[in-house]
Amino acid sequence: MMNIREALASELADVLMVEQLAFGQDDEAKLVEALLEDPSAKPIVSLLAFKKNQAVGHILFTKVYIAESENAASLLAPLAIVPEAQKQGIGGRLIDHGLQKLSQAGVELVFVLGYPKYYSRFGFKPAGALGFEAPYPIPEQNADAWMVQALQPNIIGSVRGKVVCAEVLNQPEYWRE
Ligand SMILES: CC(C)(COP(=O)(O)OP(=O)(O)OC[C@H]1O[C@@H](n2cnc3c(N)ncnc32)[C@H](O)[C@@H]1OP(=O)(O)O)[C@@H](O)C(=O)NCCC(=O)NCCS
Repeated sequence: MMNIREALASELADVLMVEQLAFGQDDEAKLVEALLEDPSAKPIVSLLAFKKNQAVGHILFTKVYIAESENAASLLAPLAIVPEAQKQGIGGRLIDHGLQKLSQAGVELVFVLGYPKYYSRFGFKPAGALGFEAPYPIPEQNADAWMVQALQPNIIGSVRGKVVCAEVLNQPEYWRE
């Protein structure tokens, strides 16, 4: 049995533990902790997946915007599943759940920088070709990793431009992949 729900403020330790175990180092946990405190990252969606009351997965979405446009947009980063719980579909369930919440909140575009083969399963498409520039230029060989999907009709094609992320993420080292 697995269930997904919004992470409570009191569950910060669970969130950070999942990030640490999934990535095998502290960088992502520190990033998530900083993002949760960053006013420019709000609104956020922070979801935990539980198996037998144990936190095994976490996904974070933070606010972004497109320069000189009014569209509501969000960035998926990071997604983390603890090693023992990987390859059971939990990452996919967290993505779907998050996208549903964002859609209900009126978010129009969701971006991600990640494995193209993985995220294309969940509706993401290469964002560069659709007119969306990443906060920092993505190296040519990873260009496909910068992806987007629209959550509302008639968005793709009606807006383009440079994506501006939360301050904590606005550093070149986060945009190399
Ligand atoms: C990548 C990750 C989020 C996937 O979550 P998950 O719950 O294991 O994924 P799902 O069960 O939904 O899907 C599994 C699929 O993801 C694919 N996948 C896992 N890691 C991958 C990688 N590094 N590159 C490409 N695909 C990958 C698997 O090949 C698998 O495909 P299959 O179903 O054909 O076997 C998880 O493995 C993880 O947390 N890894 C460590 C942290 C990380 O690298 N996060 C990257 C996202 S920012």
